Amino acid sequence: MKNEFPILNYPGSKRNLLNFIDEYTTSHIPKGKAFFDIFAGSGAVSYFYKDKFKVYANDSEQYSSVILNALLKFQPKGKLSVLLEEINHFSELNKQELLSVFNKWVDKEQELISSYKYEDIEQFYLSFPNVWKGNIVINNMEITIETLRKFPLYSLFTSYYSGNYFGVLQSVEIDSIRYAIEKGNFSVETKNMLLSALFYAMKEAVFSKDGHMAQPLGINNNLDRLFKRRSVSISEKFVLKVEDFYSDSFLTEDKGNKVFNYTFDELLFNNKDIFDEVGFIYADPPYTDMQYSRYFHLLNTLVDYQYPEMTVYRGSLSRGLYTENRYQSPLSQKSKAIHYHKQLFDFCKEKQIGLAFSFAYPFDPANQQTSRYVLNIFDLIEYGNNVFNGNFQYYTQDYNHSNNRNSNSKKVLEYLLLYTP
Ligand SMILES: C[S@@+](CC[C@H](N)C(=O)[O-])C[C@H]1O[C@@H](n2cnc3c(N)ncnc32)[C@H](O)[C@@H]1O
Repeated sequence: MKNEFPILNYPGSKRNLLNFIDEYTTSHIPKGKAFFDIFAGSGAVSYFYKDKFKVYANDSEQYSSVILNALLKFQPKGKLSVLLEEINHFSELNKQELLSVFNKWVDKEQELISSYKYEDIEQFYLSFPNVWKGNIVINNMEITIETLRKFPLYSLFTSYYSGNYFGVLQSVEIDSIRYAIEKGNFSVETKNMLLSALFYAMKEAVFSKDGHMAQPLGINNNLDRLFKRRSVSISEKFVLKVEDFYSDSFLTEDKGNKVFNYTFDELLFNNKDIFDEVGFIYADPPYTDMQYSRYFHLLNTLVDYQYPEMTVYRGSLSRGLYTENRYQSPLSQKSKAIHYHKQLFDFCKEKQIGLAFSFAYPFDPANQQTSRYVLNIFDLIEYGNNVFNGNFQYYTQDYNHSNNRNSNSKKVLEYLLLYTP
């Protein structure tokens, strides 16, 4: 499809609803002013409008702002082959260093994968010396998070996530490409593009459900998937995505796009000036109590690359191997979400800025579970009718979210609430 450039399989992505959204919004977006996608996530909607409007995009998650910058600001310049050579040069430096420590593990892993040794693979991965297992000694040296931080080589994914989310070789490649992105002489825009291409490669390889990265799958019950996923080459997938960014399929229009990495409060209450340039707001907030920082914590860890401490809860690590300081959004909390959205409605009314507000809600709320949803959509519709008087309507479309494809009990309606001043 035209105007699509997917990086992640994003929960709640509007990738398959672009025409529905477009049908009711385009005619209300003033030319010359910015279209502002305030919960932009994977950037599907922002990118879709990039060749028509000046697009502003915001999200509280750091990985999202990396993707948004790549989608909205990157311009392919210079020769692709030169860029790839530079990546390859630095990446090999780190890779050879890592292999000098982990070559036996990588060789053994590749042997097990290529010969489909189902019976041995779990034990192999369980015995990998991840740093959080403690008491790890490599080449007569005790390895801790502290010592890893002091080494010049990049080994975070190899030491934290080998054998769970990724294979050993895959982790070595992730670390090494990340090293190259840091050490090469690249502009900020190019760096964001390269990080996004690496996100894409990680999404293709990760051993977890539905392409997100909330927790690794159990090995024993998912052996077929394990072998399939572990056969994916991170570097091949990475290069494919970089090539896409350099191909004709990547839209390069930039009518003055801007990207922000603010929480909702920071944006609406501390950065009001941004809205002087805005003609229309598109808001697609979280609709359940699942925190986005949980789905893609690995990507923020990759960007920061700070060897974080692991989160310990009642003496154990979490199944997702989460690290400290994940952002917990109040918009994914039932007690708080509606209050924020009412503030957004009031804000648009006060500033006389048009608003399209997306929300997915069960098709048949009387007979379907609504307990994970952060608000009752009918309460918000009622509020919209009161605040916006006659300038408010809403539209719906049947939609089955991709991970619930076969389940009628999880059928949802996509709502689009529209304020046109
Ligand atoms: C339903 S998703 C948006 C999906 C997006 N429209 C797309 O097509 O990919 C909701 C987004 O809101 C972001 N978010 C959650 N809480 C937020 C907050 N307090 N401030 C800003 N963004 C927030 C999440 O990180 C997530 O990316």
